[in-house]
Amino acid sequence: MSNITKDQLNRAVFEILNVMPGPGLLMLTGSDAEKENLITIGWLQFGIVWGEPTVNVFVRQSRYSYELLQKYDEFTINLLPVPTFNDVLSKCASSSGSYTNKFKDTNLTKVKSKIVNCSSIQEASMVLECKIIFKHDVSINELSDIIVNKFYTDGDYHQIITAKIINIKEK
Ligand SMILES: Cc1cc2nc3c(=O)[nH]c(=O)nc-3n(C[C@H](O)[C@H](O)[C@H](O)COP(=O)(O)O)c2cc1C
Repeated sequence: MSNITKDQLNRAVFEILNVMPGPGLLMLTGSDAEKENLITIGWLQFGIVWGEPTVNVFVRQSRYSYELLQKYDEFTINLLPVPTFNDVLSKCASSSGSYTNKFKDTNLTKVKSKIVNCSSIQEASMVLECKIIFKHDVSINELSDIIVNKFYTDGDYHQIITAKIINIKEK
């Protein structure tokens, strides 16, 4: 497995799934040398795939973050304590980085990550540094009608993005 320990992975899975479903997670996309953005996420899966600790995130194609995830292959997942950061999480879920700077809107502090070229959030109680290894578009041909009718009548499909977890920072 990678540099992270089994204990670290177990704690991350436990703490993150413990706040789900709910607005406790912020994904930071982009590159610290160029443009970065914040998006509140709620859908994710953990596992060991291709011998690596991985996380799958689900990002709809209409999101500005989706654009950045096609350009840059790294991101961070930042666990923000709730309810303290509820306002921040709802701001990052209700505006698009294509027309607003969510770092200014939220006053969160960007800090350099340990390994990836994408920042982390200082206020987070835990940060997962992730490197994308696989992307897969959700296709209605492969999905049950129940899911299609519930989530995709507007044609705004998710991309499922598998990333290797390469570092975990805990406070
Ligand atoms: C609790 C919660 C969880 C969310 N989870 C996701 C998610 O997993 N994937 C996604 O694409 N959008 C998700 N959203 C919606 C995005 O946060 C929202 O559309 C955001 O404005 C997109 O920002 P962007 O266009 O700057 O990327 C979620 C919203 C909320 C309130």
